[in-house]
This record gives sequence, C-alpha cells and structure tokens, in this order.
Amino acid sequence: MERIPILDLKRQIAPIRQELDAAIKKIIDQANFVLGKEIADFENSAIDYTKAKFACAVSNGTDAIRLSLLAVGVEPGDKVLCPAFTYYATAAAIASIGAVPVLTEIDPNTYNILPEEIARIAKKKKIKAAVPVHLYGQCADMDNILQAAKKYNIKVVEDTAQAFGASYKGRKAGTIGDCGAISFFPGKNLGGFGDSGMVLSNSKKYDDTLRLLRNQGNKEKYNHVIIGYNHRMDTLQAAILNVKLKYLDSWNRRRQETAAYYNQALKGLNLALPFVPDYNEHIYHQYVFRVKNGRDKLMQYLIDKGIDARVYYPQPIYLQKPFRYLGYRKGDFAQSEKAARQVLAIPVYPDLTREEKEYIVAAIKEFFRC
Ligand SMILES: Cc1ncc(COP(=O)(O)O)c(C=O)c1O
Repeated sequence: MERIPILDLKRQIAPIRQELDAAIKKIIDQANFVLGKEIADFENSAIDYTKAKFACAVSNGTDAIRLSLLAVGVEPGDKVLCPAFTYYATAAAIASIGAVPVLTEIDPNTYNILPEEIARIAKKKKIKAAVPVHLYGQCADMDNILQAAKKYNIKVVEDTAQAFGASYKGRKAGTIGDCGAISFFPGKNLGGFGDSGMVLSNSKKYDDTLRLLRNQGNKEKYNHVIIGYNHRMDTLQAAILNVKLKYLDSWNRRRQETAAYYNQALKGLNLALPFVPDYNEHIYHQYVFRVKNGRDKLMQYLIDKGIDARVYYPQPIYLQKPFRYLGYRKGDFAQSEKAARQVLAIPVYPDLTREEKEYIVAAIKEFFRC
C-alpha cells in the first residue's frame, strides 16, 4: 500500500482539470486579476449556496475574522471570546486588531465552545464579541450561543474556516451569527489554489463596511473614506472556487460516507468516536477521535504503516508562546488540555479508495490487538 496522505488534492483536481484550466485561462486572457467580474460571480454563487444575504470575498480566513470583527465594531482593547482549543488563527485574528482574546472552555463531546461559558464570563467582564469556532466541520450550538450573546449585547462572528457547507438546524454554517468568516485555504473542503476567504452576513451595513475594509477604504477610486487594508480575494481564486463549488456537496457526502464507515468499523475499540448532535450536519473537514490512552503511540504506529495521522491541535491557545501574555496557566482549561492530549485525525478526504479505508481501519485494530 502506498503512503496515505491526510489529503491528496491531486486526486480531487484530476477529474475536473479541464474545467479548471479553462477558468484559469479565461482570467489570464482577460487579465482582470484584481476584483474582476468573477469575484462578484463567486460571491453570488456563495449567496445561492448558503442563503446568506451578503458575501464579501477576501484574502484568507484569518483576514475574514479580522475584518468581521472590525465590521461589527470591535475596537482596540475590546474583549473578544473564543475557545481555548482551536487553530491559532482564531485567537491571532482577534489579537491582530488590538482586541484581547478571552478564552473559554470547550464542550468535550463536540470540541466547540460551551454556550454557558459565554454567559458565565460576560457576567463578570464586558465582552464586545464572541468567535465560536465550528471545529473539524460541525457547528457550535449557535442558538444557545446567540441567546447568551443577545442577553449581554455581544456580537457573534462564526469562525467557519473548517465548516463551509456544514449546517445547523438546516441553516448553513456562517449565516447564523452577525458574520461568518470562511477560509478557502487549499486544504479546506472547498479550497482554492492559494489563500482566499469570505465573510457572509445578513446585514447591508456590515457588508458595505467589509467592502471598504478589504479594499483600502475605497468608496470609489482614490476616494478613501476609512482606513482599510488590502484584503481582496484574487480574481483567479474566485474563478477556481466557482468551478469547485459545484462539486462541494458531493465531496462532502463522500466524506460523510467515509465517516459512517469508520464509525461502524471502529466501534468497540477504546476510542471516543466523533459525536454529532441531532441539530448538526457534520462535513468532516477532519475525522477526529479521542484516544484515551497512548494517542502518540497510535499516531506513530499509523505513520509507520504509511498512514498520515495528525493531531489538530497539540496545544491549547494559551500554552502557545504568543499568547502567554494573556496570563492563563496550565490547568486553566482542563477539557481543552485533555482534548489536545487525546485527539487524533485520520484521512477522510473524498477520494480515498475502499482499500485505503479498510487498510486504515485494519491498522487501528491491529494496534489495539498488539
Ligand atoms: C479554525 C480556523 N480558523 C481560522 C483559520 C484561518 O484561515 P486561513 O488559513 O485561510 O487564514 C483556519 C485555517 O486553517 C482555521 O482552521
């Protein structure tokens, strides 16, 4: 068996190569590389797909969070909640605009923010915004999050970097809070050929501000009305993403089928398999289980067998060097630390073959027999 990577984009690209080549060629022929017509086309496709009222294409997922926070009115010094267990960029985006990340514990079943934490913290400190993360491809409990947010006048920016296409009670991830920040990093379920992102919202006011922020505060050429940035999506990425979006649901279905196969095949082992509440449609950006004992040994065993098992993420935010200034200590978020010690992801991308999936399952079972 050849090595099984955590993701093989070449397999995804091959069957749609001609369509992608044609879309890229068109942009080169038109030479409309910045804010070309394809940007609006892709924004409209994203609106059709998610049913958000507005979509603003931007440079990447981190900038999507930054700009969302600015659009909802976060200012330097404001406190912004986010989970202690997430990818670094969630907290970095908050810190990058001079706001202060305030960390919360996670639900040990879904790895997402605990809604009751929002109210608990907001009772004690003034919180301007919260950034729940839809980790691994399933939504945080948005209704309860929004209820707490409403009570304490907190704006909600959904970190939808890993969950474009997932849904919560029938609503698409990223369309439920004030803004939804999407990443189209190449490895995401919908990924470009480089970095790009998007902000979804249902407010014209936010969308208008986002469009200024992403393009140097430009209302029209050389009329700059606010301090903005260069956070535009490339036309080339929009053209590529517009081709790939048509396939997203079928790719996500194949991920779900693989997850169902793993759930069945790995039952009965000493693992905590992914938990999906009834309200969620999980799109398995990652298939992650918990290994109660010996996670690192299992990971090494799989790697030695040629299977690219990975840990997302080995350290909670506050134990990483750039965030030590926040003043949290080891032990502050027991569930986040436990998740960082126990989680393990195995390949779940849509193009895995049946033989590869069976090989992965057999290797995991073999580990537990040894
Ligand atoms: C949870 C989360 N938030 C934010 C980001 C940032 O997205 P980008 O890499 O497009 O800046 C990522 C990307 O990996 C992510 O996984």
